[in-house]
Amino acid sequence: MRRPVIAGNWKMYKTRDEALAFIYAVNQLVPDLERVESVICAPAIFLRDLVKREGENLRIGAQTMHDLDEGAYTGEISAVMLKSYGVDYVIIGHSERRAYYNETDESVNKKIIKAIQSELTPIVCVGESLDIREQKKTNGFVKAQVLKAYENVTDIDALKTIIAYEPIWAIGTGKTATPDMANDTIKAIRAVLAEKYDEQTANKVRILYGGSVKPANIDSLLAESDIDGALVGGASLDPDSFLTLVKAAIK
Ligand code: 13P
Repeated sequence: MRRPVIAGNWKMYKTRDEALAFIYAVNQLVPDLERVESVICAPAIFLRDLVKREGENLRIGAQTMHDLDEGAYTGEISAVMLKSYGVDYVIIGHSERRAYYNETDESVNKKIIKAIQSELTPIVCVGESLDIREQKKTNGFVKAQVLKAYENVTDIDALKTIIAYEPIWAIGTGKTATPDMANDTIKAIRAVLAEKYDEQTANKVRILYGGSVKPANIDSLLAESDIDGALVGGASLDPDSFLTLVKAAIK
């Protein structure tokens, strides 16, 4: 059994007061961590405030990190810094970072390795553009992304990671991949893990779907055999909506 994960990705939204109001609103209502991992990945500036206030069933994550421990990299934040603030998760390779901030398969690979060394759980994002989907090249594209991301990552370390399949055309567009479509690609990702590692490892790694996940479509996505949860943008900003999503994962 793979424990479900519902991770909110707040992106660049909320003020401090709004971030704190969210935490106070959801803290006591998040289901038992044994049943669902509920995570909020917040802008770095809020992390300390959120970690200080996280309830026993909520975990806090960052949205990116550098691949080195320290150095002259103005504006960057390292995995050891995140860990020293009690952050537990970090999103790596989100398509927006790939598109706007030069994140590449190579940097994603380095960051996964560094995150694991630093005892952060990486949420590794992969996913195709509309163009690739229309050319029917999705599985090959995503396979290459996964293989590169997991280069020199052992099977034991792969189990410490979470993958998020986020088709770029479904992010923030209101167009969700159909549950079938999402499940097919997620199965293809599991097949890549089985080929690279073994069936047992492939069956244990949690793979989430992301892209316009909402309270209205979460049940049908989670009903699929291989979808272990969701990475959620817009619908994670509102406390009630986030709670509906995490509660859907324990049904
Ligand atoms: P939306 O849920 O707003 O489509 O965003 C998805 C996403 O990018 C989560 O990382």
